[in-house]
Amino acid sequence: MTSLPSNLLGVFENIPPADQEKIVTGWSHPRSIVSFRVNHLKCSRTEVIEELKKASLPYTVWPSWEEAFYLDKEHEYALRGLEMYKTGKIYVQSLSSMIPALCLELEPGQKILDMAAAPGSKTTQMASMLHCKCSIVALEKFGVRLEKLVHTIKAQGVEDCVEVVKIDATEVVAHYSKDEKGNKGVKMFDRILLDVPCSSDGRINLSDDRTYKWYSWEKSHSKSTIQLEMLEQARKMLVDGGKIVYSTCSTSRRENEDVVQKFLKTHPEFTLLPSPIAPDYTLEDNMNRWYPSTMMEGFFVAILSK
Ligand SMILES: C[S@@+](CC[C@H](N)C(=O)[O-])C[C@H]1O[C@@H](n2cnc3c(N)ncnc32)[C@H](O)[C@@H]1O
Repeated sequence: MTSLPSNLLGVFENIPPADQEKIVTGWSHPRSIVSFRVNHLKCSRTEVIEELKKASLPYTVWPSWEEAFYLDKEHEYALRGLEMYKTGKIYVQSLSSMIPALCLELEPGQKILDMAAAPGSKTTQMASMLHCKCSIVALEKFGVRLEKLVHTIKAQGVEDCVEVVKIDATEVVAHYSKDEKGNKGVKMFDRILLDVPCSSDGRINLSDDRTYKWYSWEKSHSKSTIQLEMLEQARKMLVDGGKIVYSTCSTSRRENEDVVQKFLKTHPEFTLLPSPIAPDYTLEDNMNRWYPSTMMEGFFVAILSK
C-alpha cells in the first residue's frame, strides 16, 4: 500500500485489507477488453453476430447477458470501423455500466426516471431493452453533458420514448410538484435509475496519473452528500411497489454502502433486493460490489424496493 499515491489512501477507509488488495490489483491491471450491446431498435443479435463473423473479429458473449459481447481491446479500432457501430446498431459500453439497467426489472409500459443521465449509455440501454415501449425522463444538470446525452439518444434512435430535462436532480421534486395544469402532486415513476455523480475511483489506472491525480477524501465526501440528497429526491417520486437502483463507479464505502445505510436508517420502508448479476463481493446484505479488473471497472449497485 505504501507505493500508492497518498491522495488515494482515502478510498480505503473501512475497507477490509483483502479487499484493498483486490482494488489495487484492479488499478494496476486496467481493462483489456472492449464491450458492446445490441441496439434492438436498429438490429437483431443475429445480424450482429453475422457482421462480427464477416469481419473475422473474435468475440465472446457475456455470460451474464446474451445481448452483450466483448472482444480483446486490440480489436477496438476494427470494431469502431464497422458499419453497425457507425449506424448505432451496436453501442460500446463497459460491462459494469450495463448492470444497473439489468437490475431494474424493466417491463413495457413503465414510467422510468434516469436522474443523472449523460452521456446516455444507460438511458439508451433501457430504451433498447424495452423496444421504446416505455416513457423515460432523463435528467442532466450540465449543458455540455446534456448535448452529449441528446446526441446519444438521436444516434441510438430512441427519441420517441425519452424526454430530456436540464435540471439539478437534487431539486427535481420541487420542479415536478405541480403538473402541466398547475395541480399539486409530484410526478411519480415505476423505476428510478440513480447512477450518481461519483469520484470514479473504480476507473483508476495507476500507470496513468490523469485518472487519479484529482482524487481527494474531501471531494469524495462532498459527492456523498449530493448522492444522499439525490436518493432522498428519488424516494419522493417512486410509486409503491417501485424500484430504485443506486449505482456508482466508486469503490469507497463512503459513496456506496454508507450512503445507502444512512438512507435506510431514516426510510425503513425500503428493502434491499439481491442482484440478478452475480457480484464479486457483498460487504453488507444485498449491496453489490464489482472490483476493478481486466473485465470490469470497479462498480457498486444497490437495488432498493418500496
Ligand atoms: C455517472 S455520470 C452518469 C452516466 C450515465 N448514467 C450513463 O450511463 O451514461 C453522472 C452524471 O450526473 C451529472 N450530474 C452531476 N451532478 C448532477 C446533478 N446535481 N443533477 C443532475 N445531474 C448531475 C454529471 O454531469 C454526469 O453527467
